[in-house]
Amino acid sequence: MLSTQALPVVRATAPVVGANISAISELFYRRLFEAHPELLRNLFNRGNQANGSQRDALAGAVAAFASLLVERPDERPDAILGRIANKHASLGITSDKYTIVARHLLGAIPDVLGDAVTPEVAAAWDEVYWLMANALIALEARLYAQASVADGDVWRQMEIVERDEVSEDAASFVLRRPDGTSAPSFRPGQYVSVQVELPDGARQIRQYSLSAAPSQKDWRITVKRERSLDGVQPEGEVSTWLHTHAQVGDVLDVSLPFGDLVFPDADTPLLLASAGIGVTPMLSMLDHLANAGSQRRVIVVHADRSPATHAHRYEHVELVNRLANGSMHLWYESGADAHPALEAAEGRADLSDFALPQGTTAYLCGPLPFMQSVRGHLIGNGVPAASVHYEVFGPDLWLSRQ
Ligand SMILES: Cc1cc2nc3c(=O)[nH]c(=O)nc-3n(C[C@H](O)[C@H](O)[C@H](O)COP(=O)(O)OP(=O)(O)OC[C@H]3O[C@@H](n4cnc5c(N)ncnc54)[C@H](O)[C@@H]3O)c2cc1C
Ligand code: HEM
Repeated sequence: MLSTQALPVVRATAPVVGANISAISELFYRRLFEAHPELLRNLFNRGNQANGSQRDALAGAVAAFASLLVERPDERPDAILGRIANKHASLGITSDKYTIVARHLLGAIPDVLGDAVTPEVAAAWDEVYWLMANALIALEARLYAQASVADGDVWRQMEIVERDEVSEDAASFVLRRPDGTSAPSFRPGQYVSVQVELPDGARQIRQYSLSAAPSQKDWRITVKRERSLDGVQPEGEVSTWLHTHAQVGDVLDVSLPFGDLVFPDADTPLLLASAGIGVTPMLSMLDHLANAGSQRRVIVVHADRSPATHAHRYEHVELVNRLANGSMHLWYESGADAHPALEAAEGRADLSDFALPQGTTAYLCGPLPFMQSVRGHLIGNGVPAASVHYEVFGPDLWLSRQ
């Protein structure tokens, strides 16, 4: 909760800070990386820096947090922090780093807003930052404790024991502990971070959802190769490296699993809606439900460009067939006829004829426009917003683009 001195100051200045938050966050990152170039090479995703998406995600989160503090001062606005804390934990971020970020982020506010930032205003925003930072530090400490590791000690070596090409542009990698013991368990829907050393020596990290059920000896991830569609935009750095270099017998640096797109064990109906490579967390959830002999009603919706781009397409359908109460609804923009066994419709996903059972909880994963359209449809049909969960395969821009 903000102090009584800070609350009116934050309320009065939130509009001007909010209006300038993108410029503040841009200056913050520039200063941070000037002072600590190793953070950009080896911790932050330099593609997200180049295209500005991480800047927007940070700005959106700070603005959303500040507005919750002033609009609902008696509530703990931790709900929006779960995703960030999980991402931070999967990167092994420790509490000492928050002081470095504080220096550059809080220093950027007066540099962008000028004389409007009186000592009272600076002190009030210092409070906002540390409320947010301390809430994140506490959440991250809990995640490390749950994983039974010291703060930040999340990186492990994993050997690739199998590689399969599972669509025109996706490959799966089965990962095993080098000593052959079982990989740590996780909750279906969670992801790991993978760190690779690129040709210029930078160590870049990306997240990949675990694409098979837990409680098996190994983990599996499925990586889509990010190609340049126009020849101008660069190819994805880590996915291209994995596709061109990672082979059976190689050892990768992989984090323990984290992520908050997980469902509680219950018997309520589920909707699992994915598009493109967003299928990966759904495969893990479906595999888990099928192994457990779940009787839950599970409606699966998937949209893809064509059968050729649908990663693990037959496995996806088979998993739904193994469920006692599962149904599959597939759409391909083209080529549906080529694989009649998949019983797909041609065109874009259309949920307008869907009658969802009462009490359905929805899990969405795919490009933002797909998820926004599905979510809009669900909410329009009476599904409470709190029952719609989603995973974005990049910095979460939902908060900054509402
Ligand atoms: C929780 C989570 C789970 C995920 N699960 C999966 C999964 O299961 N499978 C999967 O395949 N992916 C998954 N992802 C996405 C994955 O983490 C990577 O983002 C993806 O592989 C692309 O990484 P990359 O290094 O290949 O591309 P990057 O190099 O990061 O590039 C990403 C995009 O930015 C653009 N870009 C890069 N540099 C510039 C520049 N200088 N200027 C303009 N644009 C630029 C690229 O053209 C590309 O379109 C997940 C992400 C998250 C956050
Ligand atoms: C109050 C302080 C902080 C806030 C509000 C914050 C906010 C965020 C947000 C919103 C994201 C994007 C999450 C997503 O949607 O995927 C993120 C990711 C990240 N954060 Fe933080 N963060 C803070 C502190 C830190 C610190 C101290 C570090 C370590 C130096 C750090 C390093 C990172 C990295 C490396 C990523 C992933 C970046 C990427 O993949 O592009 N953050 N953070």
